[in-house]
Amino acid sequence: MTPGFIVIRDNTPAASIPKGTVVAMGNFDGVHRGHKAVSDGASIYPACQNLLLAARALGYGGVMTGWHFAAETELRTLLHIPDEVDLVATITFGRPQGRHGPVRRRPLPELVFGEQWGQPPDWAVDPAGTRHTAAGPPRPSA
Ligand SMILES: Cc1cc2nc3c(=O)[nH]c(=O)nc-3n(C[C@H](O)[C@H](O)[C@H](O)COP(=O)(O)O)c2cc1C
Repeated sequence: MTPGFIVIRDNTPAASIPKGTVVAMGNFDGVHRGHKAVSDGASIYPACQNLLLAARALGYGGVMTGWHFAAETELRTLLHIPDEVDLVATITFGRPQGRHGPVRRRPLPELVFGEQWGQPPDWAVDPAGTRHTAAGPPRPSA
């Protein structure tokens, strides 16, 4: 698998693509052509995460999106992406207005199980002061 990233920094030649967009791709050598697997992009997403972390350290905000699903035909034409290369993410970067918001995440016992599905271990404890988010997939009501 060969990864690739196209960075859009200015308005040419792809005027309709926002500046600060990174298109992440992989040439899967025909392995996945014709069907989509849950593992598509799995070898590229860690690099995307590193990109997001590095951008954050430099004061930029970034978010991974599936914008390419709606714009794939146009992106392929504008950026000369060959057919054998699959698009796996479009990441947008920019300077946040104001400042970065507080970082929140789901409570550890909802994410980490011990020995079997659904059993939070007693060691899965959030550090004091952790801020939680309500974002994420639907959860069973208590
Ligand atoms: C592969 C991938 C594609 C994503 N595509 C979208 C998307 O199209 N739209 C969206 O709102 N969030 C998308 N997300 C989720 C966002 O990256 C982000 O996590 C979410 O908007 C919550 O932002 P926050 O973590 O800053 O609160 C995607 C995440 C991944 C890993």
